[in-house]
Amino acid sequence: MQNPKLYNLLPVRMRSALERWLDAAAMLASVRDPRVLRALGPSGVRGLLLQRGKQGGATPMRAHHDAWFDWHYPSDQPAMAALYRRAKEGQWDGDDLPWDTSVDPLDPERPLLPRGFIAAERLGDFGVRLTEREEASLRCAFATWMLSQFLHGEQGALFAAAQVTEAVQFFDGKLYGATQVMDEGRHVEVFNRYLDTKLNRLYQVNDNLFVILDALMQDGRWDMKFLGMQIMIEGLALGAFGVLYRRTGEPLLKALLKNVIQDEARHVHYGVVALREHYTHGLSARDREEREDWAFEVALLLRNRFLAFEVYDEWFAGRLSRAQWVSFVQAAPGMQEFREVMFRRLVPNLREIGLLSPRVAPRYEAAGLFRYADGLAADRLTAEGMLTELQ
Ligand SMILES: [Fe+2]
Ligand SMILES: [Fe+2]
Repeated sequence: MQNPKLYNLLPVRMRSALERWLDAAAMLASVRDPRVLRALGPSGVRGLLLQRGKQGGATPMRAHHDAWFDWHYPSDQPAMAALYRRAKEGQWDGDDLPWDTSVDPLDPERPLLPRGFIAAERLGDFGVRLTEREEASLRCAFATWMLSQFLHGEQGALFAAAQVTEAVQFFDGKLYGATQVMDEGRHVEVFNRYLDTKLNRLYQVNDNLFVILDALMQDGRWDMKFLGMQIMIEGLALGAFGVLYRRTGEPLLKALLKNVIQDEARHVHYGVVALREHYTHGLSARDREEREDWAFEVALLLRNRFLAFEVYDEWFAGRLSRAQWVSFVQAAPGMQEFREVMFRRLVPNLREIGLLSPRVAPRYEAAGLFRYADGLAADRLTAEGMLTELQ
């Protein structure tokens, strides 16, 4: 903010709106590639400026993909057929989770998030001091915000899985996709039930998450939906689920996340198999470069912008600036761990599908992300291995 005196004279609501607009302008300005900007720009306006996800109960979005019928029902993708079989065997029923567990979000013995997760004492640097009870309820708000975003993301995953099932050209992929639609429906069910019956609270969709969901829903190219959902958002989700699974002291949430992680590991595996096949055989150099740039920009958006502004608006608008909040959240130990886990998963997957070319590698290097490039991609990592790593 150029003129802090003038800024402080503005009413709090106007200050917060102004900061939102500046923030949106900064996001759009940070996307350097014009084709990526064209793809994300309209969604950025709808999500960040117009806040379409926060205007009422529902948001219609127009889809533009083609459904692909194949009257020969070919079975030519053995890796996808194997995933389909595994998915059928791995189905579980959300009703079987221990829903009779009593959950007290402020119970210090079984905290939703441990004390160190957000390190609230650092708010003292900005002149804000919280009582013990306020600190515990801020942590609860943070956990509820994360779970609410998981739920909104799962709704997007449900629709994206359904669209990709129609649009994909691998028949074994369509059969596999049907299981993913069921999985995502179950994830919506269990996250919604947890929020509704245990936490009695639902945060609105985060504007930045809305931007990406909006862009994926409206993009008619199935592989972009796939890249965005199966690789980027599912990568983000696996990072967040993994950290929460490792850190939470609440047994019902832990059991729920364990089941969801096993499904998501399969989804990312499918994303890697399908895109590797498609990007190896069916893409011009120019189209590949567009995907490389898009993936890099979206990775940065996910890293830099998933920052609980809805919690800020509720707790600290008028007491902290958005910039102070950003520095607080970015330095929170739990959030750092989440970014670490997310990129450890995401970057090897991008390499595996051919989007970590020598042309873009220096950008990953400059963003501090290239150190993950040698890791195992999702097709080599089992859900059991992933969970063991998270113990
Ligand atoms: Fe899911
Ligand atoms: Fe998923």
